Amino acid sequence: MYAVLKTIHSYWAYLVLLILVIAIVNAFMGKSSGKDFGAKDLRISLFGLIFSHIQLLIGLILYFVSPWFDQWSEMGMGVMKNAETRLYLVEHPITNILAIVLITMGWSMHKRQTLSAKKFLRIGLFYSLGLLLLLSRIPWSSWL
Ligand code: HEM
Repeated sequence: MYAVLKTIHSYWAYLVLLILVIAIVNAFMGKSSGKDFGAKDLRISLFGLIFSHIQLLIGLILYFVSPWFDQWSEMGMGVMKNAETRLYLVEHPITNILAIVLITMGWSMHKRQTLSAKKFLRIGLFYSLGLLLLLSRIPWSSWL
């Protein structure tokens, strides 16, 4: 169960980052060209939202089945003093949950706008902030 989830979480991350970059580039290009926010733009942004939510769900389950989780009972609050345990048990999960909250806010805020330029801007800005947070706390050394 752990190995399968870790593999899925690891590969799904490529898809999440890729689709978010596509959605952000699409949003800023749409904004600068002044075109209407159409069905294709909606689909790309929705994919970004869905893919990141799926990663959140996988991550939440992985958190409790990962051997990292056992460190809570072994080290207690000592996990905060070690950079690696702090990254896996605290920083990565909390930052990524915040990132997905921002992405979700961008999605809901774009729906409330009537002007296409504002729709593109909400998606572009909030997805970018979310992506920056995700990139800031990925365990790069174990992933790549
Ligand atoms: C879109 C959001 C997320 C992305 C892009 C992401 C990405 C990653 C990546 C690339 C790794 C390294 C995988 C490897 O070493 O092969 C990882 C590990 C991990 N992630 Fe996430 N993650 C996300 C959200 C979450 C969330 C929300 C949680 C928990 C609540 C979580 C829990 C974990 C855990 C526990 C590991 C370590 C697995 C292990 O080595 O045992 N992730 N994540």
